[in-house]
Amino acid sequence: MAPQSPYGTDEFDSRQFRTAMGQFCTGVTVITTLDADDNPVGFACQSFAALSLDPPLVIFCPMKTSRTWPVIEERGSFVVNILSNRQQDVSATFGAPGQDKFSKIEWDPSPAGLPVLRNSLTWVECTVETVNDGGDHHIVIGRANVLGEVLQDKPLLFYRGGYLSTEHPRVTPAQEELENFITWNGGDTWL
Ligand SMILES: Cc1cc2nc3c(=O)[nH]c(=O)nc-3n(C[C@H](O)[C@H](O)[C@H](O)COP(=O)(O)O)c2cc1C
Repeated sequence: MAPQSPYGTDEFDSRQFRTAMGQFCTGVTVITTLDADDNPVGFACQSFAALSLDPPLVIFCPMKTSRTWPVIEERGSFVVNILSNRQQDVSATFGAPGQDKFSKIEWDPSPAGLPVLRNSLTWVECTVETVNDGGDHHIVIGRANVLGEVLQDKPLLFYRGGYLSTEHPRVTPAQEELENFITWNGGDTWL
């Protein structure tokens, strides 16, 4: 007897697509830069990933309606702040439209002067390398130029439209699988 194929539908709306994509758990970043008057700007971004080790590249996808993206494009550089689970309020602030997102946020300048948000797990200063079309988003590839220090804290996670955090103990994949991960550093410290 032929195996029964799993149920699937090719008739779905954007809400159902969101629900399906929401099963994929991500971290949360805030991507920041300075505008032409050196005012800090930024937005919350989950569509971020490590793309390449050699050269060191990252990828993120801003909506075409994002007010921050044209500012990043003009400046040509940005900082990816990887949020810790102490920064849920930071994610909420940068994930909603607002003129004055930085009014209650403490930050320090990166080597290029761009905003590094305090208490982030780590940060990466990048330059824009290429921009591609991605439907209602842009696909931005950036080159990592400066790495910030790493805090020993837990990450902020986003899953099914809500926040959560990791709990110990965690399960580590088999050694041979790890070798292929961009985000594994090869030592005994999996950060
Ligand atoms: C957890 C979280 C993840 C988000 N991920 C993205 C993303 O990957 N790309 C994006 O364009 N917007 C994302 N957003 C929404 C933007 O942060 C939001 O639309 C923000 O208001 C955009 O600000 P801006 O218009 O000042 O750039 C996310 C929001 C939250 C809360």
